[in-house]
Amino acid sequence: MTKSRQRVARVTVERLLHTVFGNNVMIGSHVLRQLDCLREVLPSHLRGRQVDDLGCGDGKLTVLLREILQPVSLRGFDVNPALVRRAKSRGIDAQFMDLENCVPVGDLAVVWGVLHHLSDPVRCLARIKANYDSAFIREPIRGTSPAFLELGSPMRRDEFGDMVRRSLPGGHISFYDDCAFVFWDSGNRADPESRAPGRCSFESGGK
Ligand SMILES: C[S@@+](CC[C@H](N)C(=O)[O-])C[C@H]1O[C@@H](n2cnc3c(N)ncnc32)[C@H](O)[C@@H]1O
Repeated sequence: MTKSRQRVARVTVERLLHTVFGNNVMIGSHVLRQLDCLREVLPSHLRGRQVDDLGCGDGKLTVLLREILQPVSLRGFDVNPALVRRAKSRGIDAQFMDLENCVPVGDLAVVWGVLHHLSDPVRCLARIKANYDSAFIREPIRGTSPAFLELGSPMRRDEFGDMVRRSLPGGHISFYDDCAFVFWDSGNRADPESRAPGRCSFESGGK
């Protein structure tokens, strides 16, 4: 089977599993530990922002992130319509979006466990850099223990570090447990009034 056919087969199986079971039957203890860690290390300027959860899935984790980030507003985006419906049923303002083609414009992008599901995570990061003032990313790292349970193709620690350094210069990377946390800030916070909410950018160029 060619690589592209393998990917189509993998994505189809993932979407089917997610549609039937949601993203997780329950949030695992390793994820709860990571959320505790986030609570401790989250830079204070990332609290109380306008948050977009990119790849929000069924919204179970979005609800937990909301407690930590205390956003003034929160939207969710996911490619799987069944998961978008589940997220909406949890009270999340969720909508369909394929991050392979399009990234919304906003204030703080949260990307928890999504990049390793994309065919081109570098392109997605370029769009996030162009469209957001700040980002928080959590990715599983290949070769660490609970990460083997992840679907998709997690990167090795060195690969992930290189990609982030190239894509989000100045981003702060820390490795915790089986995952990496990235905090990135453009240093140039746009006036929320001047932003076009929900505008979708197909280009990696400016806001
Ligand atoms: C491991 S799950 C993480 C979901 C959620 N962030 C969480 O931690 O529970 C990966 C999510 O990425 C979504 N996803 C995969 N490819 C995507 C794409 N091209 N555009 C938008 N979402 C995508 C999947 O539908 C799935 O909900």
